[in-house]
Amino acid sequence: MRITVTTGDVTSTSTPALVVNLFQGVTQPGGATGAVDKALDGAISQLIQDGEIKGKQGEISLIHTLGKISPARVVVVGLGPAEKFDAQVARQVSGEVVRYLRQRGISRAATIAHGAGIGGLDPKTSGQAIAEGTLLGLYRFGSYLSEGEDARVEFEELAIVEHDAGRAGAIGSGVAEGQVAAEGAVLARDMVNEPANVMTPTHMAEVARRVAEAEGLSLAVLEAAQMREMGMGALLGVAQGSDQPPKLIVLGYQGDPDNPDNNLGLVGKGITFDTGGISLKQAGGMEEMKGDMAGGASVIAAMQTIGRVLPKINVTGIIAATENMPGGSAQRPGDVVRAMNGKTIEVINTDAEGRLVLADALCYARQQGLKRLVDVATLTGAIVTTLGKACTGVMGNSQRLVDQIMAAGRDTGEKYWQLPMFDEYKELIKSDVADMKNTGGRQAGSISAAFLLAEFVGDAAWVHLDIAGTSTSAKTKGYLAKGATGTPARTLARLASRLAEETG
Ligand code: BES
Ligand code: MN
Ligand code: ZN
Repeated sequence: MRITVTTGDVTSTSTPALVVNLFQGVTQPGGATGAVDKALDGAISQLIQDGEIKGKQGEISLIHTLGKISPARVVVVGLGPAEKFDAQVARQVSGEVVRYLRQRGISRAATIAHGAGIGGLDPKTSGQAIAEGTLLGLYRFGSYLSEGEDARVEFEELAIVEHDAGRAGAIGSGVAEGQVAAEGAVLARDMVNEPANVMTPTHMAEVARRVAEAEGLSLAVLEAAQMREMGMGALLGVAQGSDQPPKLIVLGYQGDPDNPDNNLGLVGKGITFDTGGISLKQAGGMEEMKGDMAGGASVIAAMQTIGRVLPKINVTGIIAATENMPGGSAQRPGDVVRAMNGKTIEVINTDAEGRLVLADALCYARQQGLKRLVDVATLTGAIVTTLGKACTGVMGNSQRLVDQIMAAGRDTGEKYWQLPMFDEYKELIKSDVADMKNTGGRQAGSISAAFLLAEFVGDAAWVHLDIAGTSTSAKTKGYLAKGATGTPARTLARLASRLAEETG
């Protein structure tokens, strides 16, 4: 799939389909859409007048041009109300349109830069949004289908046509950035969609090795023996129920080697399958737990993007990868484990395993001298109850870092919402026998989980992202495909760039 930027006039572009757009409520289209309308003797404005085109967001209308202009078809896509328009809308409709075309067997199209006219987006942002929306909207995972694979039409080329050469340059640089960001999200999606019999901890480490080699990152993979030496009793407690060897995967990017303290640690939960352990989950829907490594996947993916964008900051990605299985050696409810920093945890429920593996991964991050930490985890069902699948739950000990994540999210269109960390909640994880227990009961389940993590970050600035809701999508819509979303890979990479710009 190629995205090109060309300078020229849309009505004389030879293409199977030309995509133009329309804001809701506009009766006389202007700009490129207006020029096409005029060349088609008012066909678009007639359809608007007849009420067949309204400009609602994502609405798609197909017009055959019958030789009146060079494009064989014109596709009018609705951008919704002008006042609600932004880069995220451009991303969503871009995804919707290319899927529409592909479904009709059309594999090439030309488009105008959505929103770069009266929409008020700068050309670069428009180019980036179109590239991300297109590449993510076309995404599909289907590598285990024995039939039909060859019959699938692939979308091959989208040409963005712009009449102003200077603006075309800006659109082009946006496209290049969007492509890198989208490729990161696609990598995360592929890892999450992969079944757990393939995406084992060993396989995750293998993917990380490929990324490290391709992008020139350092890689260390700690085995169980090293974890034992380092005192990672919480991570090993989870891993002991599985025959798959656990891996602590460490990817390193040195973008500011002269300033080692200018650093960021990205820490991902990499439970390649979560059965719940001895506190076994119910059977219905358990297959979704192959995605319990989405935090780790997004960290590996963000490291790939960072390795290509080259921000002036040092970033370390740490992924705690293991299965959570109920094997004969599995840990039991009531067991007490000791994490790398010496703190003890009473394991009330073996299904609250994410916080256990993250406890040791966060200690390791601190030992590596990382000053700012962002952990990413499909941590609690409670966050899905609280926020649904629309936004990621954000908690942390540093409002500054929280605000930086939220700002990065506004850049990428991934939504974030902060939950409070009031001292009152801390009592929920008090244990009679250990420094803390790994579940806090029915109240404020996502926040009590975050309070356990907070015990292992020392004095680092730390943010926790609970992506149990946002790491997968229930349906194909906009630039999302049913299954893995790749969230929050794009935002993590964007955060690194933002922090680099701030200090650099
Ligand atoms: N991986 C799950 C959380 C989860 C739930 C992710 C739904 C994606 C969708 C996590 O390990 C878990 O099992 N959490 C428990 C914690 C409880 C035992 C305190 C939960 O949320 O039920
Ligand atoms: Mn669990
Ligand atoms: Zn889990």
